[in-house]
Amino acid sequence: MSTTFNSSPVQAAAPVFTDWNDTTSRLWGEHPIRLAHSLDRSPLFSMDALAELIDTYPRSHYALIETGGLKDKRLWREGDKGDLTGAEVIEAIREGRMWLNLRNVEKVDQRYKAILDQVFGELGSRIPGFDAPLRSGGILISSPSAQVYYHADLPGQCLWQLVGRKRVYVYPNKVPFVSERQLEDIALFDMELDVPYEPWYDEHAMVLDLKPGEMLSWPLNAPHRVENLDCLNVSLTVSYSTEMIRRAMSVNMANAILRHRFGFKAPERALSGPTFMAKKVLQRVMRNAGWIKKARADKRPITFTLERKVEAPATENTSIAA
Ligand SMILES: [Fe+2]
Repeated sequence: MSTTFNSSPVQAAAPVFTDWNDTTSRLWGEHPIRLAHSLDRSPLFSMDALAELIDTYPRSHYALIETGGLKDKRLWREGDKGDLTGAEVIEAIREGRMWLNLRNVEKVDQRYKAILDQVFGELGSRIPGFDAPLRSGGILISSPSAQVYYHADLPGQCLWQLVGRKRVYVYPNKVPFVSERQLEDIALFDMELDVPYEPWYDEHAMVLDLKPGEMLSWPLNAPHRVENLDCLNVSLTVSYSTEMIRRAMSVNMANAILRHRFGFKAPERALSGPTFMAKKVLQRVMRNAGWIKKARADKRPITFTLERKVEAPATENTSIAA
């Protein structure tokens, strides 16, 4: 169960989107777009506020990942923040090659829910017919030169830069960059990174640099990867589901179950009608089955714990010191 630490919503006074125009309303969700925003000026994203948030963040809602550097061999290890304070965790990230994702921040602290509510209120008023009742935010604190490898997400996604700079590569949301089969496997195993990447894909990517006060939105399921520039980064990742996205996610999950559990070769992908309704029921009944939970857990073992730096004497240690 999530914990609420602060129940007094803070209403941001200024609009979140600061350079929205008529073409933006037509491009949102259809094409990668970079927009200006005001969230980087919120005190809720100051280092002190983030350190305080990390201090009591529930274990079930965060992921700490060690990655390889930009030129290094691929590395992806999940870890635990141990008993470090929030400020120490941020310092460990500043010195290391990691990222911390404070997932579901809107459930943990109502002040961040108020920010998401404002974002989606503005989107609803600017994009005709836009309604995304399901949305979630994750605060991503990441090291200089850390990276997020090539992957695709099932919900709608946007990325808000708050501190530092990063480069985002966005690829077309179609074969050969991502296939329906791969989306279905992401739904089942909860492993977005299982989408294969080849360096020549970059020739077909849109490459966008982000600085504080800029955000990116891209089309549903478009694969992307992120490289931090040489500075500590803080970003907000926001995922959301409209009715059509929710239906597509149900079909992905049901088709994955039909393939992996019942041997179907190529289940159809209709988003309405009797087959869709049957799949909706199927994925609802089976999505928490023991074999699915086990398959997911097997793919995400925790393999390191942050430890407080001991000034002297220096000792050999396989843990990552703050
Ligand atoms: Fe992503």
